[in-house]
Parts: sequence; C-alpha cells; structure tokens
Amino acid sequence: MPGRLAGKVAIVTGAGSRGPGLGNGKATSILFAREGARVLCVDLVRERADETVGAIREEGGEAEPFAADVTRAPDCRAMVAEAVRRWGGLDILHNNVGIESRKSLVETSEEEWDRVMAVDLKSMFLATQSAVPALVERGGGAVICVSSVAALRAHGRTAYAAAKAGVIGFVTSAAGQLGPNGIRVNAIAPGMVWTPMVEDLGPEMRERRRRATPLGTEGTAWDVAWGAVYLASDEARWVTGQVLVIDAGLTITTER
Ligand SMILES: NC(=O)c1ccc[n+]([C@@H]2O[C@H](COP(=O)([O-])OP(=O)(O)OC[C@H]3O[C@@H](n4cnc5c(N)ncnc54)[C@H](O)[C@@H]3O)[C@@H](O)[C@H]2O)c1
Repeated sequence: MPGRLAGKVAIVTGAGSRGPGLGNGKATSILFAREGARVLCVDLVRERADETVGAIREEGGEAEPFAADVTRAPDCRAMVAEAVRRWGGLDILHNNVGIESRKSLVETSEEEWDRVMAVDLKSMFLATQSAVPALVERGGGAVICVSSVAALRAHGRTAYAAAKAGVIGFVTSAAGQLGPNGIRVNAIAPGMVWTPMVEDLGPEMRERRRRATPLGTEGTAWDVAWGAVYLASDEARWVTGQVLVIDAGLTITTER
C-alpha cells in the first residue's frame, strides 16, 4: 500500500476502544494502515483489537490482532516477537495504552497510584525496552509515547498527571540514549479530546471541554492520530525527544 508509512511495520498498544466510538489507539491504528503500514493491534481485550483490525481490513489495509497486557514484560516481548515473526521486523512502536485516574492528592489510594503508574508509565518502559533490539536490527525507527496535557497543567488528577509527566521524562531519556541507533522517541500530549475514555463525563462537561480552548472546537481521536502519523513517518526524521501538544491551544491560555 502506498502512503507516508509505506513498507513499515508498526505496533500500536491499546489499539482497541473501551466503548463505542473512536479511541486514540484505534484511530492511530487505522491511519497507520491507511498510510501503508502493517499494524499489530495490541490490546488487553482481544475483541477490542479484533474490532480495530476488522475496520482496517474493511478498507483494504493490513493488520493483525494480538492480546497482551503491556504491564507485563513477557507480554511485551511476545508482541514484538509476533511483529517480527509475521512481517520480518519492526519500525514503529506507538505506546498508546493509558488509564485515567480522576482522584485528587488526598483521595488517591496507594493501590490506585501503583495501578496508574504500571499501566501509564511502566508499560511504556517495558514495551520500548522489548522493541529496541528489533528497531536496532532495522537500522532505526520511531517510538511514540502518549502523554497528556495533564502533565503540563495543574489538573487535580494526581496519579494520572504524575504518570503522564513521567512519560515525558522517559521520552527525553530514551531519545538521548537511542538517537545514535537511529531510533527517534517522541511524546504526544493530547488535550481534552472526546473519546470513549471520557464519555462518562456527560454532555455538560463535553461542552465545557470544547469551549475551554482558543480554537473552541472539539478534538477527536483523529487529531491525535495525525500527530502520530507525522512522528512515525520519515517526515519527522530530524525530530526526537519532543512533546507534540495537540490541544487546540489549551496549554497557552491563561483563562480557566
Ligand atoms: N481522551 C482524552 O481526553 C485523552 C487526553 C489525553 C491523553 N489521553 C491518552 O490517550 C490514551 C488512550 O487513548 P484511547 O482513546 O485509545 O483509550 P481507550 O480506553 O479507548 O483505549 C485504550 C485501550 O487500551 C487497552 N488497555 C488498557 N490497559 C491495557 C494493558 N495493560 N495492556 C494492553 N492494553 C490495555 C484497553 O483495553 C483499551 O481498549 C491514553 O494514554 C490516555 O491517557 C486521552
């Protein structure tokens, strides 16, 4: 398939959507495939990965589902091995998996803190560590880690903000270490996009989120996914260690 990612092999973690509608991982998997990549759609819930793969195949793209828990090192090694076995190598790792915690500092339990750190931060370390040998073998590649504007603004979501800020620190460190191998590592910090992850916030909050930005329009998973396409592609060959904020200008506002 021709496209900006033609000939590349990609892994997207959290490639399913937790509900009806379009999550960031699902949209990114679909755009990667549309741009010519072969995509291993990894999800804890196999049916969710199947759904994304079905959508890709319907359009004539190439994708395979893979069930894995990316908080576990053996699962991360297995997903990389599967991409290499199936398609002969790996070029792109898109670390999308993340869960939200909306608890404040005083409300957050130690268990919740540990869970969020494992899913939102440790998963990126394990998946990236597992992918490095395959990326090196290929002579380089791209790793993208999904952070959040919650890491950049004073949100009352302690564990989530800390984990997402950790993602940026991880990206900075990994980019410095892996640059000499031709591996670029970047983060995307989405703003308040409307995805199944936040569907439970309801219509009133949806409207408030939309109006909170200078652009005043609602962000979708496609907005995040297009950023991922750019960072994954050779167009970004000279870009590493960066945080691409996709937020309709939320982080530049002084108003609340
Ligand atoms: N929606 C927003 O406003 C917003 C804003 C900023 C950042 N984000 C980030 O976007 C990412 C998620 O986006 P999404 O829309 O795809 O979410 P989603 O919840 O719709 O999909 C995530 C998928 O990840 C899977 N998953 C969860 N834990 C897993 C694990 N341990 N191993 C493998 N798969 C696992 C789930 O089964 C689910 O299908 C997260 O990193 C989130 O923090 C979202």
